[in-house]
Amino acid sequence: MPSINMPVLNVPTFKKSAFALALVAGTTMAASTTQANEVEVLHWWTSGGEARAANVLKDLMEAEGYGWQDFAVAGGGGETAMTVLKSRAMSGNPPSAAQIKGPEIQEWGELGLLGNLDEVATAEGWNELLPERVANIMRHDGQYVAVPVNVHRVNWLWANPEVLDAAGVEMPTTLDELFAAGEAIREAGFVPLAHGGQAWQDATIFESVVLGSQGTEFYQQALVELDPEALGGEQMIAALEDFKRLRELMDQGMSGRDWNIATAMVIEGVAGFQLMGDWAKGEFTAAGLTAGEDYLCAAAPGTQDAFTFNIDSLAMFRVTDDAERDAQQTLARLVLEPTFQEAFNLAKGSIPARPDLDMSEFDSCAKQSLADFQRTADEGGLVPSMAHGMAVRADVQGAIFDVVTNYFNDTNMPAEEAAKRMVSAAETASF
Ligand code: GAL
Repeated sequence: MPSINMPVLNVPTFKKSAFALALVAGTTMAASTTQANEVEVLHWWTSGGEARAANVLKDLMEAEGYGWQDFAVAGGGGETAMTVLKSRAMSGNPPSAAQIKGPEIQEWGELGLLGNLDEVATAEGWNELLPERVANIMRHDGQYVAVPVNVHRVNWLWANPEVLDAAGVEMPTTLDELFAAGEAIREAGFVPLAHGGQAWQDATIFESVVLGSQGTEFYQQALVELDPEALGGEQMIAALEDFKRLRELMDQGMSGRDWNIATAMVIEGVAGFQLMGDWAKGEFTAAGLTAGEDYLCAAAPGTQDAFTFNIDSLAMFRVTDDAERDAQQTLARLVLEPTFQEAFNLAKGSIPARPDLDMSEFDSCAKQSLADFQRTADEGGLVPSMAHGMAVRADVQGAIFDVVTNYFNDTNMPAEEAAKRMVSAAETASF
């Protein structure tokens, strides 16, 4: 018998967004397509490396006797997946679990749509296992509503060492060195920087340039606290100019290119570098390559003392059926168990969400990521990724994406104009 997913709406706490209002208007009880003993999981892990990682969870669930209904929505960064999720929720039929991250977890929690995971969290000792910073993101109103699968670092530079050798350059540690190396790589006949012209990818490299150009404190003021003086000031203008210069290092064919195709350009030796979060490492791994030999990783130029974190997490939707709830609890438990944390993160390119695991199987880039995560957590420099939904709410993020991508693609727009628009984006979007 199909179970019923009946969202319990908590009207007084609704955020007055168009989505929330539409949800109130449109929500009816609808039959779920999920069987009682299975979970339907929405995510956007569709590249080679990502799919390998997602399969780890599917296999573990199936080994425990549960069914897995894969609800994969292609599109890097997850924008399309979130749109699809909203429409499913609006028709009263959300999946059992979905990859929802950062402040967006709070938005779904405020809508009253998320289930409580406290029972499994207590039984498994999540409070002791997880760093407080991570645990806080997973709780809404003091209760666990999501489980973290990993910690991704966004501020990475990836490189093909053969291309670097052919051009006679080393891994750059500053933006100036990147531009100089890029020029040499171009002269040697390669694409200096592989990129895909999609708004979220533009925003991904933009935030690394903001960090590398102006430092962590400025990043925090501008892209996390949305301080209008920082967003519209001289430092932002300088960062925007550095960002636009990156175009000189890109190729003509970048428009609309998926991020993993850009990674493939580095793998195949067509391009020298890619600025991308460490899900790119999942592609190098899936191609059978070894970190430090076949490909290189380093903090994005100028960001050695910073770590932009992006924590993937699965939030569970509120369900009425006991069997479906049981399947959700099993899913949540498995996600934080060592078996999953190790196998998933080896494939995904990220590091485990729990810091107590044996890292001996992980490569040098992952070990560096963990060390840098801990160092920046202790000394400062650990900042949430704006581009990956960890810093600001979805409406603000979307408005910033528009400014960033329009500026990047408009050869005539001065940085001063983009900085002004950045201020309005933060203001108009937050209501
Ligand atoms: C990020 C997500 C990663 C990866 C990437 C590319 O937002 O956190 O897990 O999937 O997008 O799609």
